[in-house]
Amino acid sequence: MFVHKMTERVWQLPAVHWNRRLFDALIPLPDGTSYNAYFIKGSEKRVLIDAADPALEEGFLEALAGLPAVDYIISNHAEQDHSGILPKLLERYPGVRILATPKAKPMLVNLLHIPEETIQTVEDGETLSLGDVTLEFLHMPWVHWPETMVTYLREEKILFSCDFFGSHLATSSLYVPDEWQVYEAAKRYYAEIMMPFARHIRKHLERLAGYDIAVIAPSHGPAYNRPAFILDAYRDWVLGEPKNIALIPYVSMHGSTEMMAHRLADSLVAKGVNAQLFDLASMDIGKLAIAMVDAGSIILGMPTVEAGPHPYGVFGAVLINALRPKAKYFSIFGSYLWGTKAVPTIQSLVTNLSAQFLEPVYVRGLPRKEDLEALDRLAEQIAQGHRAAGLR
Ligand code: FEO
Repeated sequence: MFVHKMTERVWQLPAVHWNRRLFDALIPLPDGTSYNAYFIKGSEKRVLIDAADPALEEGFLEALAGLPAVDYIISNHAEQDHSGILPKLLERYPGVRILATPKAKPMLVNLLHIPEETIQTVEDGETLSLGDVTLEFLHMPWVHWPETMVTYLREEKILFSCDFFGSHLATSSLYVPDEWQVYEAAKRYYAEIMMPFARHIRKHLERLAGYDIAVIAPSHGPAYNRPAFILDAYRDWVLGEPKNIALIPYVSMHGSTEMMAHRLADSLVAKGVNAQLFDLASMDIGKLAIAMVDAGSIILGMPTVEAGPHPYGVFGAVLINALRPKAKYFSIFGSYLWGTKAVPTIQSLVTNLSAQFLEPVYVRGLPRKEDLEALDRLAEQIAQGHRAAGLR
């Protein structure tokens, strides 16, 4: 495994998982990922910040063997893709102390059976001198677990942010090689992982504005030697208004719901609203999540199966509810034949949304002229709402 020397004191150990294609048995990784650890050599003490996923343990331990032993391991985040090989590191470095937040400590104990006495908790704002350089620990909960923190190396102005600002992108480049490519990967990462916690991230961005940051060094994807690139992107995703886009995720069995999806899209476009259609039976979850970051409205379509919503419609509703997009309007459309509870079932699954719920268009069988006209009226409501809110 290769390592990157970042400065005279700092090395990046990127365990690049080129061929990983799924995370959490859910999230597609079209570009692979990496688990970046960082080694810092102070004049008196040495530390490792985060580690790697156990899947890449062998290469990671080999790379570490080329560096001096560490006194501390800083665990910014307890999830196993960064902490999973901590038990191996405790064997390698007898007497090493793991530094983590008070909330992370029991997580590490429960997830990895790490002996409690090896973990030393650090408070928000606490510092650690390595001799000629100082680390500052900033608790930043809910990016994306409750125990998360970031670590700031004052003298080098490097922020080690773990998942925060990360991207699932396998690359041999230390720094962002292509901002267009990384923008999409980072937005996908934000949408899938961070968007449900936008309220917390807003506060963290405000706090970080008070720090002089030359480099953001996340634990997934390349580091940012132009931090404004990712900080500005996060400000837009978190703080910006949604855009004049209607997102239409749908699933169809015999074509009725698909016909409605296209009529709705055509009508929206005719009224000046951009439309994005996603077939829930064949889409990339990440692409749908990215679209949710900007969507001003979401209209979910599905037929009825066994009196309830088609299971892919349920999946779409659960995903939308979990990711908590900032869309201003939400509605449902679809088709049934002899009976349905699809609409109330879907409504019960999206209670996290703050969006205004618009009258659904749920019709019997193949849509008739009046059903399609009802979709036109739904499109008009959305167009008017977007105009009134000034969405662009
Ligand atoms: Fe990269 Fe939340 O772990």
